[in-house]
Amino acid sequence: MSTAEALLTPDIRRMEESDLDVVMEVERESFSTPWSRGTFRGLMRRSDASLWVAEVSHCVVGYAVVWYLFQQAELGNLAVAPGWRRRGLGKRLLDWALEKARERGTERIFLEVRISNRAAQRLYERYGFVQVGLRRRYYREPVEDARVMSLDLGQLFRGASQGGAG
Ligand SMILES: CC(C)(COP(=O)(O)OP(=O)(O)OC[C@H]1O[C@@H](n2cnc3c(N)ncnc32)[C@H](O)[C@@H]1OP(=O)(O)O)[C@@H](O)C(=O)NCCC(=O)NCCS
Repeated sequence: MSTAEALLTPDIRRMEESDLDVVMEVERESFSTPWSRGTFRGLMRRSDASLWVAEVSHCVVGYAVVWYLFQQAELGNLAVAPGWRRRGLGKRLLDWALEKARERGTERIFLEVRISNRAAQRLYERYGFVQVGLRRRYYREPVEDARVMSLDLGQLFRGASQGGAG
């Protein structure tokens, strides 16, 4: 199968309470210190946060979470179920999250990522995220530093409209 055939185009929609069983499963498979169901529920009630799921054939296979503070936003979570990775779903979710953040007037978006998480960093670097800080011993299990990365959305979308990034 060629790479082009393997790429998937998911349906992306708002996360609902009924998605949480699957979301929690993916969360546990993806992170050594998964968020709790209560964390997702709490964020779903907040008007300054957005949670989306990606579906393929009506099955939830990934999700993204963003919250907003004035003209800034934080990508709080992004995950794709292990069996569905490397088929473009992380990128689709990120495209979606960045577009929605821009629609809300976000100028700059931040995230934290484990130093050892090269897969996620490669994805972020493709969009032009750059390291703007380091949080020492930010993560547990194992204890590890976080790379703080940030992206100027104005620059990203100006570049895209000129036929740029991807
Ligand atoms: C990071 C994650 C969301 C990427 O999802 P994905 O659906 O596999 O990503 P995509 O298929 O859209 O990949 C897009 C690009 O990211 C990079 N990438 C993704 N996985 C990679 C890997 N294992 N190794 C190297 N680069 C990788 C590549 O540049 C890739 O493009 P390519 O396939 O054309 O080379 C997924 O690996 C995941 O859920 N990881 C566990 C949770 C996590 O670490 N989340 C991020 C927290 S900060």
